[in-house]
Amino acid sequence: QQEGIRLTLLEINKKAARYYFALLKSPRGKVGYDYLTGRGLTDETILHFGLGFAGQGGGELYQYLKKEGYSDQILKETGLFKMDERGVYDKFWNRVMFPIMDVNNRVIGFGGRVMGDAKPKYLNSPETKIFDKSRNLFGLNYAKRGKRNNMILCEGYMDVIALHQAGFTNAVASLGTAFTEQQANLIRRYTDEVLLTYDSDGAGVKAAMRAIPMLRRAGITGKVIHMEPYKDPDEFIKNLGADEFEKRIEEAQNSFFFEIEVTKRNYSMSDPDQKTKFIHEIARKLLVFEDKIQRNNYLEAVAARYNIKTEDLQQLVVRYGNQMP
Ligand code: GTP
Ligand code: MN
Ligand code: MN
Ligand code: MN
Ligand code: MN
Repeated sequence: QQEGIRLTLLEINKKAARYYFALLKSPRGKVGYDYLTGRGLTDETILHFGLGFAGQGGGELYQYLKKEGYSDQILKETGLFKMDERGVYDKFWNRVMFPIMDVNNRVIGFGGRVMGDAKPKYLNSPETKIFDKSRNLFGLNYAKRGKRNNMILCEGYMDVIALHQAGFTNAVASLGTAFTEQQANLIRRYTDEVLLTYDSDGAGVKAAMRAIPMLRRAGITGKVIHMEPYKDPDEFIKNLGADEFEKRIEEAQNSFFFEIEVTKRNYSMSDPDQKTKFIHEIARKLLVFEDKIQRNNYLEAVAARYNIKTEDLQQLVVRYGNQMP
């Protein structure tokens, strides 16, 4: 019963994706097609990701799926419609559409972007019986087949698509929500190294600071790619190209050093009290490394970097270590 519903939902999503794709390629979808090509996407990329266009409003997808014989009850469960006393409307309209696929290439939901500055910029399918946002990653169906021995984790659909188009087919994004532990474990099935390319704004730094410990707990080594002066990988690639991005990958920062650097922003190093607090914070952070050799390697590296006597830092770490429950 439940399994039957899930299969039907997958079938409907596939039909919806095909509908949106056909519309994008039709005269009525030209505005969406022009938007995507205007952002540098090729026909091949559009086809590869199955990008589409949701029409000008009303219930055209609904009417199409009704003709295909689906009941209102099951259509409601897709999350693709708004249903109230007055009628049924397509949830997505006048947006370019990004089908979200699971690792088995099945369409489990959609993201849709307005083509201008209207809000909300992105609209996503709600969670349904087949769509759990916390357990899927956009682009993973392609990234998992990649030949590289790591994955690139970024913020948005367009980042993933631009990266794949530029040859970085190991890029994935969490689905418009904060990165989760389940997503970290999902990535761990395929690789133990993640290159973080979150946006270089405050929100992106904050998101990276949350993601790094989660990756670490999942047994994944994180590295941070810096994209300054650009905001995200999509913009970076558009302006500087794939070779420059490759260089940034090579220069990616160890995620522990990234954490320390971000932490350091809260302290004024010229003030001895603040500097002391900062060093105490480093000592506490070093406790995340349970492997003694690894901890020691990090200890020596940060001590050298911030001009702390190794023995002093060592003592502090031992002290905090003894305080742990
Ligand atoms: P572009 O402007 O198309 O390049 O998008 P972006 O990916 O750079 O957008 P941004 O950095 O603002 O957001 C990153 C990701 O967060 C997006 O790809 C979406 O998945 C999600 N997101 C952004 N804005 C919204 C929103 O208004 N609502 C929801 N639900 N998600 C959003
Ligand atoms: Mn969830
Ligand atoms: Mn952002
Ligand atoms: Mn962007
Ligand atoms: Mn962005």
